[in-house]
Amino acid sequence: MEREISGEILNIPEHVAVIMDGNGRWAKKRHLPRNFGHSEGAKAIERACENADELGIKYLTVYAFSTENWKRSVEEVTGIMNIFRKYLVDSIERSNRENMRVRIIGKREGLPEDIIEKMRNLENATAGNTGLQFTVAINYGGRDELTRAVKKIADKYKKNELELDDITEALISKNLDTWELPEPDLLIRTSGELRTSNFLPWQIAYTEFYFTDILWPDFDMENFIAAIRYYNKRERRFGGVR
Ligand code: FPP
Repeated sequence: MEREISGEILNIPEHVAVIMDGNGRWAKKRHLPRNFGHSEGAKAIERACENADELGIKYLTVYAFSTENWKRSVEEVTGIMNIFRKYLVDSIERSNRENMRVRIIGKREGLPEDIIEKMRNLENATAGNTGLQFTVAINYGGRDELTRAVKKIADKYKKNELELDDITEALISKNLDTWELPEPDLLIRTSGELRTSNFLPWQIAYTEFYFTDILWPDFDMENFIAAIRYYNKRERRFGGVR
């Protein structure tokens, strides 16, 4: 979709995925505890949703907590879980006001019961919303997601519900947590790291990557537009020749 942004015609990606990195460094620079950085990171998420909606992006997917993040200190993990608790509750009213649908992807197993319940409430309360389709990855790992998908498919095979030739790329996509979402057009990673860290490995096969040194809590509309401008310079060929 083309859109005029401050006098500039930009092709807007339909689906943007974000690896929100740098909360810890943002706090450290200010001599504040790491969890302060995560709270600011949560504010940056709300801002990113508003900006994505204003830009005409239809799907925004963010990496909030990986299956590997449990290795952090108990204090930090507890702090992040408390930020999720607050976010999951506060988001219901705000999302409904903004017609935003929220989905949570990742492994539910291993998360505190009350958080699983709050996730379900938020997803159900916003299920009818047709504006920005916002997805949060919590306790998410791409390899874990693929492993769970393989198990689901193997189970159907075992029950004779499908044949070997039914196992196609499309079937695998349909068994991932992201089954309702198109593949990301653009992946943004903040804070200067050049890795994809087990985020949507199957889904980003043809995605354009944009890396920026900006720390996640500082990510604003100007940075968002810079990422889209970069995306506009890329020529997507999907393996073909143009
Ligand atoms: C990366 O920064 C950030 C995380 C692993 C956590 C992201 C979590 C939030 C933004 C909290 C809020 C989320 C929601 C959905 C409300 P880092 O800690 O790895 O930063 P560093 O690399 O500078 O240490």
